[in-house]
Amino acid sequence: MTASDAAALVDRLTAVVPDFPTPGILFRDVTPVFADAEAFSTVCAGLAEPFEGGFTAVAGIEARGFALAGGIAAQTGTGVLTVRKAGKLPGEVLKESYSLEYGEASIELRPGQLPKGSRVLVADDVLATGGTAEASITLLERAGYEVVGIAVLLELDGLGGRDRLASRVPVHALGSAPA
Ligand code: PRP
Ligand code: MG
Repeated sequence: MTASDAAALVDRLTAVVPDFPTPGILFRDVTPVFADAEAFSTVCAGLAEPFEGGFTAVAGIEARGFALAGGIAAQTGTGVLTVRKAGKLPGEVLKESYSLEYGEASIELRPGQLPKGSRVLVADDVLATGGTAEASITLLERAGYEVVGIAVLLELDGLGGRDRLASRVPVHALGSAPA
């Protein structure tokens, strides 16, 4: 399987849902990619490929990034960090607020789970404005980690996500789609 095979699987299996979760939003549902065993394995390998050997953990962004982070970690012999919606984690947390394509949100990370300087790959399903990913990178850096890149199944064109992140970390998207 090649990167273009992975991109073709994402394109074929992703469902496009109009007006969800609010009118005017074209929602990309990638869960069929997760449900198909061969597709899931292929996309996890494709996401990790440019960064192979360069990270010791994968930070998944809640919610669908968790599944991808788990798959990549299992294939690459690395660990998983969870970047969570605010209010879900106990104890000491680092928090960042950001604007979404629709609405406002905050995410949190528990610091101290890996040694300072650990190299971490960020995984999520979709890169839109880049607000969620940028906040995640900031959280991971505040925790003392080196973010080696971000890997997503799909980037949405015209929303500026790649430009927003590219000065900070390499951005790897298996596919792209109109916003
Ligand atoms: C979606 C998507 C990404 C994020 C991308 O998640 O899964 O995480 O938005 O948007 P951005 O690039 O504009 O920040 P959402 O916040 O809807 O939450 P969910 O994954 O828990 O459904
Ligand atoms: Mg998300």
